Amino acid sequence: MTGIVLAAGQGTRMKSKYPKVIHRILDVPMVNWVVSALRKAGADRIVVVTGYEASMVEDILDDDIISVRQNPQLGTGHAVMTAVDYLDDEEIVVIAGDEPLVRPSTLKELVFARGEKDLDVVFLTMKPSDPTGYGRVVKDGNRVKIVEHRDADPETRKINEVNSAIYAFRGSFLRSAISRLSNNNDQKEYYLTDTVAMAEKADTIIVEDAREVLGVNDRIQLAEINSIAQRRINEELMKNGVTLVNPTTCYIGPEVQIGIDTVIEPMVFITGRTTIGEGCLIGPMTRIENSKIEDNVEIVRSEVSSADVRSGARVGPLSRLRPGAVVMNDAHVGNFVELKKTVLGRRSKAQHLTYLGDTNVGEDVNIGAGTITCNYDGKNKHKTEISDRAFIGSNTALVAPVKIGENSVIAAGSAITEDVPPNSLAFGRARQVVKEGRFSNNNGQEEKS
Ligand code: UD1
Ligand code: CA
Repeated sequence: MTGIVLAAGQGTRMKSKYPKVIHRILDVPMVNWVVSALRKAGADRIVVVTGYEASMVEDILDDDIISVRQNPQLGTGHAVMTAVDYLDDEEIVVIAGDEPLVRPSTLKELVFARGEKDLDVVFLTMKPSDPTGYGRVVKDGNRVKIVEHRDADPETRKINEVNSAIYAFRGSFLRSAISRLSNNNDQKEYYLTDTVAMAEKADTIIVEDAREVLGVNDRIQLAEINSIAQRRINEELMKNGVTLVNPTTCYIGPEVQIGIDTVIEPMVFITGRTTIGEGCLIGPMTRIENSKIEDNVEIVRSEVSSADVRSGARVGPLSRLRPGAVVMNDAHVGNFVELKKTVLGRRSKAQHLTYLGDTNVGEDVNIGAGTITCNYDGKNKHKTEISDRAFIGSNTALVAPVKIGENSVIAAGSAITEDVPPNSLAFGRARQVVKEGRFSNNNGQEEKS
């Protein structure tokens, strides 16, 4: 099956510099919701018709998606014509790029119905309370036609079954029908909808839940569809054993996976290809993107991006895991601690006010409060190596490149610029000097000596 996604329009009512279909529903551009539905419905080839700011749309498409450019945009029928090279004799599903909520199961139903009844075309329709603006569906036995709102007479406008712009075509029929389209209508456009009247056998399927085919035309609808998508995903998670304490405040992307008995506290954002294991506690007020979180992990009030958190680890409150952070099993990351390209070994702890960048921390290491790796010299990044069971005293600056050996202890307040061998104690600070009697009890004034 080939899927053709019409996405060349500007979407004037969005009042945007960007093409409509790249605006996001949750964290995924609208057109990619449609692409993903087609994929899940079994499309083995997907063609996206781009036009307005085409390269912006092409940039967000997966590599295996074909794109063709339609310039100028002369209507939905003309959009399909630009994809003519991809119209074979197989099944062809045509779908507007601005209807992100369509379900794969509905697309499958459409394709199944076409084959079963040997139809030239079958398309999804709905019966909205106000059909204004939509193409009206006029039926006469096996023949069906669609009359666009602006071309419809008052009688036709009373029809409340309308076209939702999602179609399954017999490939050979579509190819021949689009070559016969004319632009003899109010907008002087080539309407894809006119192909329906050319079919000897056409039919419609009325969608049960009209929300599924809602289109995005302005930013109010964008927000509405966003909340429908949010609810759909959250309910699916809850059905599958995830607790969402206050689902309306949680935004979880369509590609996220979460295991059973994980509890998501309020105000949590989880996006990208994040996976979260079982029995975790996430939130409140946490953002996680493109990360892998194993089982029984706790992440409280933190930011986590492209990081890896292993079973039993605890992160937060107020931690920041940046790309390449790996928190190993049962390790702890605490408040105001930032990790970047850093592995924190098993059972190791960095609990307070710390920056670890480009660092390898072994097992059972204690990183004292205020430890900073000085990994950047203004030009290059350098590595820090902290071996198993080392103890880094509070307020230590580790000037990379530098290595701290196993079991070694760094005295608090040190600036460490040279490697420390195993089993050692290293100081890197000025010796404390005490001048007794320098101040007496005369209002803090220095004694004249
Ligand atoms: C279309 C249908 C209408 C249906 C409605 C449902 C036609 C003529 N009409 O109307 O029957 O009720 O959808 O929402 O098809 N596009 C292109 N190239 C073009 C024109 C449009 O790619 O030259 C794309 C747009 O980007 C959009 C989709 O096709 O994603 C639909 O186009 P739009 O102009 O919104 O059609 P409607 O007027 O909504
Ligand atoms: Ca539309």
